[in-house]
Amino acid sequence: MKFIAVNEPLLDGNEERYLVECVRTGWISSEGPFIKKFEEQFSRRVGRAHGVAVANGSVALDAAIVALGIGPGDEVIIPTFTIISCAAAVVRAGAVPVFVDCDPSTWNMDVAQVEAKITKRTAAIMIVHIYGLPTDVDPILQIAERHHLKVIEDAAEMHGQKYKGLPCGSFGDVSIFSFYPNKHITTGEGGMIVMNDPALAERCRSLRNLCFKAEQRFVHDELGWNFRMTNLQAALGVAQLERLDEFIAKKRRMGALYTERLQDLAGLELPLARTEYAESVYWVYGVVLHERFNFNAKEAMARLAGLGIGTRPFFWPMHQQPVFKRMEWFEQIRCPVAERLATRGFYLPSGLALTEQQIELVVAAVREILQ
Ligand SMILES: Cc1ncc(COP(=O)(O)O)c(C=O)c1O
Repeated sequence: MKFIAVNEPLLDGNEERYLVECVRTGWISSEGPFIKKFEEQFSRRVGRAHGVAVANGSVALDAAIVALGIGPGDEVIIPTFTIISCAAAVVRAGAVPVFVDCDPSTWNMDVAQVEAKITKRTAAIMIVHIYGLPTDVDPILQIAERHHLKVIEDAAEMHGQKYKGLPCGSFGDVSIFSFYPNKHITTGEGGMIVMNDPALAERCRSLRNLCFKAEQRFVHDELGWNFRMTNLQAALGVAQLERLDEFIAKKRRMGALYTERLQDLAGLELPLARTEYAESVYWVYGVVLHERFNFNAKEAMARLAGLGIGTRPFFWPMHQQPVFKRMEWFEQIRCPVAERLATRGFYLPSGLALTEQQIELVVAAVREILQ
């Protein structure tokens, strides 16, 4: 049997045609018509006035945090169950991340724990939507308003998802997306910062492009980065965006099929299909092994690899990262839900190119290793 990869993107729309157009016209750098088109179309799709395309989702977070003026002396509340990019952006800006455990059913930040983390130094709350369902946004926006805090929404995994009917990527002061190939739409590598405030958009554009002074090129009042996206990447993005609705529908069918085939397996915790505010888009199909199994996710993943199935572990909690332990940070912190998910959770092949037949093969392999 051919190895079933954990992710394979679908690139069979206008991607090739638009890429050829870039090559033929010579627009291959970060200047060119697809950049503007992608920024306009994507930001409109998520209900924002401005979009700033960047090199990836991680640097989108870096630029967003700095653009909001978050820095030394500030604290930012973030979920512990997320990717390092979220904590790294806060730390690199000179601020301190304050971690919150997650909800055991949605795997998103437990919003009931957020307000107790607020101190005099808190400057912002970062919402990060995890795997398929959005975080419960409204209570966070209310807390932020009460305490005059900024809100950053990391919607890297949530293209096309909605919270109470409004697009993910439209909440708070600024939102970011990733277009890595495992995302619903991809540009190879890529990211976008979206916002409504034109001054914030301008600042992100400046930070993305080395903070060149407008009046005199090669003169800089401030240090920025080269975080630019290329026209080639944006060409892919425009082609992919044309198919976002189709991709979301496909992901939901894939998720429903996995659930239908796996739901009778005792001890395998499956992702929640919906909450009162959203229906999962199954960015990835995550599963959690109950303690009745005397092996953990790492062992299950090794067994599945032996049967030709690619998987990925769940996020490792931020408060337990060796890089922070070395700094002797967060040593007293306990987040039992995230700690359990890290050792017992992993995700199954979830890419858009996955066929129903391959899902059946994955399901058979999961049954074999668990029964
Ligand atoms: C929630 C979240 N934020 C940020 C990122 C970083 O995006 P990138 O891989 O494009 O740097 C990811 C990547 O998967 C992510 O899942």
